[in-house]
Amino acid sequence: MPAAGSGARMGKEIPKPYLKIAGRPILEHTLLKFKEIDSIQELIISTSEAYIDQTRQIAKSVFGDRTVVVIEGGAERQESVAKALQFVSDGSEFIAIHDAVRPFVREDLISACINQAKVPDVDGAILAVQVKDTIKEISGKNIIQATPDREKLWQAQTPQIFKREILIRAYREAANRKLLGTDDSSLVEMIGGKISVVESTVDNFKITYPLDFQLAKLILSGK
Ligand code: CTP
Ligand code: MG
Repeated sequence: MPAAGSGARMGKEIPKPYLKIAGRPILEHTLLKFKEIDSIQELIISTSEAYIDQTRQIAKSVFGDRTVVVIEGGAERQESVAKALQFVSDGSEFIAIHDAVRPFVREDLISACINQAKVPDVDGAILAVQVKDTIKEISGKNIIQATPDREKLWQAQTPQIFKREILIRAYREAANRKLLGTDDSSLVEMIGGKISVVESTVDNFKITYPLDFQLAKLILSGK
């Protein structure tokens, strides 16, 4: 679980996973969604150095009976995930990656994503929703180059769940080729991986801007 970002777009001093909603840090709300998923045997969180102790406490309070590892992340999300991958134990068959700042993911969709990742002829599965807006591809001069067919466009979310071996290989390849992807799946796609999409809901939004934080507060206060 990457939690090492600085939250530049949120613009608050405290990084997003540690902003409190209804008395609990966002990270804790997110972890609680994974608590009942028995197939998750170990939890690895990358965070910023100043938050390592606090993160260990939060994670232990939720996942106390399972292995919890908290490490220092990197400058990019990809680096934070890459560092965490080094701590995945050899016995793990699958690796699930989930943003610390998506506290509204539904448990049934996490399970559906796990089940889809287990399908023999795929390498992994991700949650995603169909885009609602028409998307424009533009050039450097803000001139529209193309309008991709909206029916084919999906917005990637997390969790993104992969067979262990291919994910490790994808991250190694990306590091070797100095490629930066905007999600985990894209790295696996780059080495030819076959990834399924499991239809999710817009509730599983990523808390990114102050407006997202306001919405999250409203949802959790039941208004
Ligand atoms: N993340 C991380 N390491 C980074 C950057 C991001 O572990 N170097 C984590 C964030 O903490 C978050 C998730 O990846 O849980 C999704 O990233 P994002 O929403 O972009 O968070 P930030 O990078 O913190 O926000 P911003 O891009 O606005 O600075
Ligand atoms: Mg970011």
